[in-house]
Amino acid sequence: AKKITKICCIGAGYVGGPTMAVIAQKCPGIQVTVVDLNQARIAAWNDPDTENIPVYEPGLSAVVAEARGRNLFFSTNVDEAIAEAEMIFISVNTPTKTYGTGKGMAADLKYIELCARQIARVSKTDKIIVEKSTLPVRTAEAVKSILQNTGNNVQFQILSNPEFLAEGTAVEDLHAPDRILIGGDPTEEGQEALQALVDVYANWVPREKILTTNLWSSELSKLTANAFLAQRVSSINALSELCEHTGADVFEVARSIGTDSRIGPKFLNASVGFGGSCFQKDILNLVYIARSYGLQQVADYWEQVIIMNDHQKRRFGTKIVRTLYNTVSGKKIAFLGWAFKKDTNDTRESAAIYVADDLLNEQANIAVYDPKVTADQIQGDLNYLHSRSEAENSALVTAVTDPYECCKGAHAIAIMTEWDEFKTYDWERIYANMTKPAFLFDGRNVVDRKKLSDIGFKVYSIGK
Ligand code: NAD
Ligand code: UDX
Repeated sequence: AKKITKICCIGAGYVGGPTMAVIAQKCPGIQVTVVDLNQARIAAWNDPDTENIPVYEPGLSAVVAEARGRNLFFSTNVDEAIAEAEMIFISVNTPTKTYGTGKGMAADLKYIELCARQIARVSKTDKIIVEKSTLPVRTAEAVKSILQNTGNNVQFQILSNPEFLAEGTAVEDLHAPDRILIGGDPTEEGQEALQALVDVYANWVPREKILTTNLWSSELSKLTANAFLAQRVSSINALSELCEHTGADVFEVARSIGTDSRIGPKFLNASVGFGGSCFQKDILNLVYIARSYGLQQVADYWEQVIIMNDHQKRRFGTKIVRTLYNTVSGKKIAFLGWAFKKDTNDTRESAAIYVADDLLNEQANIAVYDPKVTADQIQGDLNYLHSRSEAENSALVTAVTDPYECCKGAHAIAIMTEWDEFKTYDWERIYANMTKPAFLFDGRNVVDRKKLSDIGFKVYSIGK
């Protein structure tokens, strides 16, 4: 297969940035250029201090520091990077549609189509196009049709190469992936393109971990993986509610079933509900695709994973209100954590947003501490819901940069993210400064329940 020396990636987000940084780190002979329309984002990726890059991931700033300027570049000149590259990754966002047919369910593919049209317009030499974004099954067909009918008579090969990294562990996951999945056409040209991408990954990933399939299996496997993972979380969360009513402990139940090698121990942490940019979006998309083929039972089956998750988020807020004597109006509630999981500054679909929204409807005052999320981000997340005016949101919600300050005078603390630092706080000091009785709602089961109860906290944990 042709040896790749120049790669371009369109989209410098949570996937494009880390993925390309690691490819550049591991393949010094390949020039990697990551492009984006968002000038502020590119400027942040180019910030001389790599601690200021726009995606917070443990270990990422070191990878960027190693490769940037050597064979890793960030730019807003999309046309130039496309024209030069032999291989182009498309890593743009594919959010749930907010308008028209499939609103609230289907994936919005407008950014993908724009990329395809731009590639077709700019390309003067043959290219391998790699779908890195998560896409509905059979999207490669549409991409191919756009490229072949509007291009300058150059040859395009389309590959599907979905990304399985999880945020918070992106660098680890990229360095030692469980597998790399590449789908391609069965034709000779298709297989040659596929081999060129296999060779890129083979610079650091053992060959037996690089799986190759046809295009449609690869596209569908990504949606399937996320659906299975989210289903595990909804399954354990469903049991957590039953535990609360029966005296069973969801921790003990998870351990008891997780030691069965067929079930396995991972991804069985009961929580306030899963968040993140992927799970909900991808399952909704899967449900939409199933319905579009008339497969109602298949669609209903997977939709239940989302219904359960919405229920889990809602019942956490309800529990807080009920426990606080059925009113939180005018009461200060301290949120520890806003990100959708620890070790990321990403807040997309975070359970914290929805629990906060429910409590704000009950006129609570919320103080938020998160070690990596900015005040602007928190306000933006709430404003995006359009539940009340922006002025009301900013009057009722304050971001606080010190956790002890955040909890001072609060009637209750709600732990929304499992940041490690929460485990080692001076909880006696926090207790001393709270309104009594001091309630603590642990949405992540991170604190030592017995220790905090002994201090005097009234502790509620998920599934206990
Ligand atoms: P993101 O929103 O962080 O980044 C996407 C970037 O693409 C944005 O910076 C945007 O400005 C840019 N962009 C959009 N249209 C463009 C265009 N026409 N030209 C140039 N730039 C353009 O999104 P993300 O989290 O990186 O996700 C990207 C894709 O990867 C999605 O399909 C997502 O489902 C998938 N994915 C995400 C994760 C994750 O953990 N976030 C994991 C696996 C897969
Ligand atoms: C997920 C997939 O794991 C990854 O493979 C895919 O590429 C993108 O989507 P991500 O959303 O970044 O990754 O994080 P993940 O670790 O999967 O967590 C998703 C949500 O589920 C988080 O809110 C997390 O807190 C929650 N979760 C996870 C639980 O509540 N309990 C668990 O046991 C595991």
